[in-house]
Amino acid sequence: MQQAALDYFYNDNAQIVFRQVCKRFPGGIRALDDITCSIESGEMVFLTGHSGAGKSSLLKLMSMQQRVTRGQLRVAGRDLTRLPVRQIPGYRRTLGLVFQDHQLLMNKSVFDNVALPLVIAGLGYRDIGKRVRAALESVGLGERGKSLPGMMSAGQQQRVGIARAIVNKPDILLADEPTGNLDPQLSQDIMSLFRSFNERGMTVIIASHDLYLVRKLAQRVLVLQEGQLIDDVDPGQSNNRPDNLPNHQSGGGVAGLDREHQ
Ligand SMILES: Nc1ncnc2c1ncn2[C@@H]1O[C@H](COP(=O)(O)OP(=O)(O)OP(=O)(O)O)[C@@H](O)[C@H]1O
Ligand SMILES: [Mg+2]
Repeated sequence: MQQAALDYFYNDNAQIVFRQVCKRFPGGIRALDDITCSIESGEMVFLTGHSGAGKSSLLKLMSMQQRVTRGQLRVAGRDLTRLPVRQIPGYRRTLGLVFQDHQLLMNKSVFDNVALPLVIAGLGYRDIGKRVRAALESVGLGERGKSLPGMMSAGQQQRVGIARAIVNKPDILLADEPTGNLDPQLSQDIMSLFRSFNERGMTVIIASHDLYLVRKLAQRVLVLQEGQLIDDVDPGQSNNRPDNLPNHQSGGGVAGLDREHQ
């Protein structure tokens, strides 16, 4: 992949901007190496690549679970490389996080699980009730507030996790392998749910190695390999690409995606 083609999507004023970002761990492990890319407000983007490629690391830098080693990362105008520790909680409230393992409190009701971010944010009782009910409605679990997570199926539990992630009305939703434990039909339902939030204006970024699902949704895909960004494909925009840039989809598919099937 030529750098010029990757740069095609780059916009320095975008909502999320990675500039030559590196993430290293002690022992010399390079989780991410010289990542430059940008994501616009309201986009839906998949991160894909083999195990160990750096997908979770990229999400963790955005959620500030980890700090950038070198380079610059800006989200909604905030320079995360310089963000003081005391501003991290406020920043995190602008994000929704979804995990493969939903990380629900199993001894608390569905309602209480979803309410948790609002309780932490100090919202009033009445506001919390209204927002939690709306969040549960939006994931199709309007009637299940009183249930315990243990009484629900894996797909329903993941929906509760998603309701908790969006209850704060985040600008950006980050999901790390959200369908990793689900069968294909449930995975598709969960992806449709993400799409519906995206259609309402939320920026959605999903790490997934489920290539079948990723292809089916026909959204922009960032492909990572050994910590490097090797491809950036947007099916919706490929026709607008200048002629002098390589077409990512020539030869029947995305370079990084095709490699998975060899
Ligand atoms: N806390 C850590 N300490 C040391 N090395 C780490 C740490 N977290 C990740 N790594 C290393 O960074 C690289 C990228 O890991 P990452 O978890 O981002 O990959 P991934 O693409 O999410 O993989 P998977 O598909 O298995 O989830 C790997 O080599 C991993 O071993
Ligand atoms: Mg991962």
